[in-house]
Formats: sequence, structure tokens, C-alpha cells
Amino acid sequence: PGNVFHAPVFTHGGGPGGYKCAIAAAKLGLKVACIDKNSIFGGTCLRVGCIPSKALLHSSYQYASAKNNLSKLGIKVKDVSLDLREMIGYKDARVQELGKGIEYLFNLYKITKINGLGKITSFDQGNLEVSVEGKVLKTKNIVIATGSDVISLPGINIDEKSIISSTGALSLTEVPKKLVVIGAGAIGLEMSSVWRRLGSEVTVVEFFDRIAAAIDGELSKSLLSSLQKQGIKFLLSTKVEGIKQSSNSLSVKVCSVKDNQTNTIEADKVLVAAGRKPCSEGLEKIEKDSRGFIKVNNSYETNVKGIFAIGDVIGGAMLAHKAEEEGVAVAEILARQLPHVDYEIIPSVIYTHPAVSSIGKTEEELKSAGRKYKVGKCQFAANGRAKVTDDAEGFVKVLTCSKADTILGVHIIGAYADTLINEAAVAMAYGAAAEDIYRICHSHPDINEAFRDACIDAFFKK
Ligand code: FAD
Ligand code: NAI
Repeated sequence: PGNVFHAPVFTHGGGPGGYKCAIAAAKLGLKVACIDKNSIFGGTCLRVGCIPSKALLHSSYQYASAKNNLSKLGIKVKDVSLDLREMIGYKDARVQELGKGIEYLFNLYKITKINGLGKITSFDQGNLEVSVEGKVLKTKNIVIATGSDVISLPGINIDEKSIISSTGALSLTEVPKKLVVIGAGAIGLEMSSVWRRLGSEVTVVEFFDRIAAAIDGELSKSLLSSLQKQGIKFLLSTKVEGIKQSSNSLSVKVCSVKDNQTNTIEADKVLVAAGRKPCSEGLEKIEKDSRGFIKVNNSYETNVKGIFAIGDVIGGAMLAHKAEEEGVAVAEILARQLPHVDYEIIPSVIYTHPAVSSIGKTEEELKSAGRKYKVGKCQFAANGRAKVTDDAEGFVKVLTCSKADTILGVHIIGAYADTLINEAAVAMAYGAAAEDIYRICHSHPDINEAFRDACIDAFFKK
């Protein structure tokens, strides 16, 4: 009655975690409302993350190809030029369309969409309350899926004009002449690729002595060398200590981690890509760790009964598909079903060119765990499809158990690393051995043959 909305499940945050949870819960017969402060549902992923970044990666790649690579295929393109406004507009249009898709699904599954800033106002078991724009919503279960936000660095103010986050880097109106990127993680590497292809001089400053620190070391080295060949400069083992801003330029103060030598680099834009933090402010009664990530038990329930949390706000891999898995799992828990999330086999991809993808254990992890393993490899240069599509850089690396032959990890660098990793995911989910993949007929000429060939290589290594 009146302002009170009765919803047994209420997802707080409409990103991939929240909206997938809402849809799964509605499909399972629960009554659901989903709240987001942004009018386009889809979260960071749709508005300022996965989707717009992949749109710009695609467009910038096409631009660079038309300029540099097509002529060797016999395609002569004259006077290639950039219309950045159009490129950004193309990206924005795809975001709008996909946002409409989520709205369509909400209508289809009769999910109440609530627009506004939500705040949990009652934490009493069975009588939870959220206030949104002056309205009070009562519910039995709340799923917090408020996601994450960019981390700034001490003394550095992200104004989204000269000093930008990924959000600013997705909507620049001019190609920066000199771009300095702080951090060689997924955001730093993807955005460096976009702006380098469009003509910027890009310097990436990274604290660690390697790029994409979490991936298998061999792939990290290989990716570094490919990106350097594309003209991206890297300062490794170097940290950014501050930025001095004058009327039309920025001086970035950097310091070597090894010998404390300081230096300055001039830039007209600086992208801060030094990690993200959970959006968990204003949830006083909810237990969090020292970094602000919400603590949950095995069923994603917080210390408050009936309040669950999923996605970036609980930490772990900050990936859209990990948030989705958790969203669906919570919906299943609430519908008294048995959820299944296997954290050992969540694939990850960095969408540079070549892209890198990973699933399972890295070689370093197996070594430090003292596991006996075999390495199977296939270079894309030996794959017919990669050759004829002029994308033969990189390799597939499969790590298998020396005794049982089961696949323990797959690491791919190459143009098709992103889609290929999902065959490895299916194989690992079913506990496949390298021999199982060897025995499965693959279509020819196809990129997936490279995964099979790497498995064959591992299987025959006695
Ligand atoms: P989010 O997507 O952050 O959604 C949270 C939502 O909650 C937001 O819409 C926010 O508006 C809303 N919200 C927060 N507080 C409130 C409140 N008080 N009231 C109402 N609403 C609120 N991941 C991948 O897997 N692949 C990629 O290619 C990829 N690319 C990325 C590129 C960039 C540039 C960035 C920044 C991230 C990328 N990610 C990628 C990470 C991915 O976007 C996140 O892991 C994912 O969006 C997390 O989902 P979530 O549902 O937990 O939170
Ligand atoms: P990140 O944590 O992956 O990388 C940040 C890097 O910045 C680290 O390597 C760190 O050493 C470095 N750094 C921090 N402070 C520094 C300093 N002062 N000087 C120099 N280097 C410094 O974070 P990133 O790239 O911002 O991404 C955030 C999240 O978004 C990631 O967790 C990632 O999973 C997700 N994401 C995923 C994508 C994908 O799946 N393709 C694409 C983009 C983002």
C-alpha cells in the first residue's frame, strides 16, 4: 500500500551481478525488484566497462588495420582518416541498445525496475527496508550488488578532463598527443591499445617488473614484447608519485622501485588505471574487510540474515562473468535450489591484440605447489586458419597433471584467445584429460585445432 513495495527479493545494483540475479530469480518464480541509480541498467560493465571498451578496441583495431595491414591482403585503401566523434557515437549507440535489451528482459520477466539511489534503512531479519528517492521498500531478502569504482592515488585528483579514469578514457573528444597510463593491468593495457592505435604516444608506468601481473609469466613476457612492437612504451618497476598540472600540460613524477631514481614524463592526459575499490559505503551494519569488501559466507549471505552480496563488492576476480555466476547462485539459493560456482575455472581475458586468456593454474602456481606437470604447446604459426587470416602471432599453452593427464591450466596469447578459452573452460569443467581432447574431432581449418594440438603435445610428452 502507498509507498511500500513488497518484494521478497530485491537486488541493489543493476550491474551484471544484480540484473542477472534478478532475471534468474524471476525465472525461478520469485517476485523481484531491481534498483540502480543509473537510468541505463547493466552497471559498470555495460555503461563504462566491458562493452564500451570492447567497442573502442574493435573500432580502433579496424582503423589501424585499414591504415597498416590491409594492403598485404590485396586491399588498397586510400586516405584512411579518423572520425573520433563517429567512433565514440558508435560505441554509445551499442550501449544504449544493450541497455534496452535489459529493459526488455525485465518487462518479460515482470521485474520491477526502480531508478534511484538506494539505502538500506532497516536491517531487521524478515523486515528489511530500503529507501529509494523518499520511498520505503520492504522485503525479506536483499542482494547487494553495488559493484566497484576506480581507485585514485594519493595526491592525484581524477577530474575526468586531464587526469582521467577508464570512464574518461572511453569518451575522449580528441586523440591525446601524449598519454601516460598508470598501471599495466587489464584497463591500462586495453586503453593503451585503443589510444596507441588512434595515434597517441603512450607510456605505461607499472609498479611491478612485469605487465598483467596475474597472468602466466611466459604470456606476460610475450604480450609485453608484442605491445612494445606496436609502439607502446613501458616503464616497469616504476611507480607514479605525483602529477604537477600546468595550464596545458601535466608532469608525471615517477620513481624507480629498484634504485629510487626519480624522473618526470610530460603528458597531455594521464589515465589512472591502478585498480578498483568496492562500493560499500553507508552499509554500517554489514561486515567488511579492511579494504571495504563485504564479507559473505559460502551462501553469499552477509552477517545480516537475509542480506546477500555478490560481484565486485565482495572481491575476488573483478569480472562481469564472475559477478553473473554469483548472481545466479544467490537466486538459486533463494529458490531452494543447488547453486554451482567453480572458482577454480573462471576464465579471464585481456582484449589487446594479441589477446591473452587464462583459466586454471599458471605454471608459477603449479611450481610453487610442488605439482608434477607437463606443458603442451601449439604455436598459431602452425595453425592453418590463423595463418590465412593473417593472425598467426602467439601460442596455446596447456598444463596437465603428469600422472593423470587432466588439464590443470590453459593460457593463450593470440588473436582468438578470447573465444578459444571457453573450449578449455568446458573441458576443465568436465574434468577432461589432454587425451580426451585429442580424441574429439575438431573442424578444419579452425583456430580450436590449436587447443587440441597443444593437448596432443602434452599427452605424448611422457
Ligand atoms: P557493477 O557492474 O559495478 O554494477 C553495480 C551497479 O550498482 C552500478 O550500476 C551502480 O550504479 C549501482 N549502484 C551502486 N550503488 C548504488 C546505490 N546505493 N543505489 C543504487 N544503485 C547503486 N569484466 C569482464 O569480465 N570483462 C571485461 O571485458 C571487462 N572490461 C572492463 C572494462 C573497464 C573499463 C572496467 C572499468 C571494468 C571492466 N570489467 C570487465 C569489470 C566488470 O565491469 C565488473 O567486474 C562488473 O561490472 C561487476 O559487476 P557488478 O554487478 O558486481 O557491479
Ligand atoms: P589491476 O589491479 O588489474 O591493475 C592495476 C595495476 O596498477 C597493477 O599492476 C599495479 O601494480 C599498478 N599500480 C598501482 N599503483 C601504481 C602506481 N602508483 N604506479 C605504478 N603502477 C601502479 O587494475 P585495473 O587495470 O585498474 O582493472 C581493475 C579491474 O577491472 C581488474 O580487476 C580487472 O579484472 C577488471 N577489468 C577486466 C577487464 C577484462 O576482463 N578484460 C578489462 C578491464 C578491467
